[in-house]
Amino acid sequence: MVKRIWAAVIIFIGAIVFILISVLWIINPEGKRAEICRKHGIPFRAIIAHRGASFYAPEETEPSYLLARDLGADYLEADIQRTKDGVLIALHDDTLERTTNVAAVFPGREKDYVETFTLAELRKLDAGSWFNAKFPEKARKSFSGLKILTLEEFLRIAVGGSHKPGIYLEIKSPKRFPGIARRLIEILTRFGWIGGEFSASTGGTDMVTVGISSGRVILQSFDPECVAEFTQYAPSVPRLYLYGAEEIEKAGWQTILRTAIGQKAGFGPSGYVAMPFKNSEAHRAGLFVHVYTINKAWQARALSLFGADGFFTDRADLLLEIYGRRPSETIGNIFAKHGY
Ligand code: G3P
Ligand code: CA
Repeated sequence: MVKRIWAAVIIFIGAIVFILISVLWIINPEGKRAEICRKHGIPFRAIIAHRGASFYAPEETEPSYLLARDLGADYLEADIQRTKDGVLIALHDDTLERTTNVAAVFPGREKDYVETFTLAELRKLDAGSWFNAKFPEKARKSFSGLKILTLEEFLRIAVGGSHKPGIYLEIKSPKRFPGIARRLIEILTRFGWIGGEFSASTGGTDMVTVGISSGRVILQSFDPECVAEFTQYAPSVPRLYLYGAEEIEKAGWQTILRTAIGQKAGFGPSGYVAMPFKNSEAHRAGLFVHVYTINKAWQARALSLFGADGFFTDRADLLLEIYGRRPSETIGNIFAKHGY
């Protein structure tokens, strides 16, 4: 009798799970999602290396991007800001306090915004030692003394390997950097990332080729006006409208959806707010959905079912493994090859 009750319970739970999964598949059909991505030249289930392979190396530095590239991530992600003397650089935070030794080199300027520093001043900073101190188990001597990268250095890394990843660039604080979207697009155009063709060849059939496809650049911002500038200055380049719980609270989800549809921008929810029915509305409007920042296998699996078409991740290695794209080189080998 007890066995029968257990069997009934298991069948009941199994049926519920089956129905739930079926509903998720029906509201976010894979064929339609893949087609939306294909139209933009974006891989379906894109693996976007968030600040590089930033789980293993100091974010937005050379080894972080070299590792992400050589592991085989589809895109290298960076946050773009501008120095006092007008140079575009890759850096996430508004200030230098968390990821450099600014307190030691420029005492009293720890809370100053990045744009109050010239490139020459930024070059004096160590952008790697904080990582060694915070994550001793992942520390490498070669990380100490790393430099903040300019956009041009970042671009050179992106094209410099056998894998050819795309680039996924965010402008986080456009109001602090008037004209930055236009400038970024000018530079990307000058380097052939926008509007041109690369002559670069790939290193073989198993290699990433996003960087030489039509979806090689994606521009992203939390700021709707900045997304509108992307549309204005680079209409053929895919763009992503980022949002999280804070943006939903401020603007309301329907406004976010309408803005994304109006700009034909992909939908970029944080993992916490990437709900299946919302993703479904975005897909029905022809928008792709890229979710940030996903570093666990179960999250990626669940969110794939919920309708995510790609993930920003600090752990490109993990997501590559989940999607059956095991890297051909180990992390240790890649670091060693590049002298890290
Ligand atoms: O760009 C996607 C994601 O990176 C947004 O969050 O703060 O890591 O730039 P954040
Ligand atoms: Ca970002």
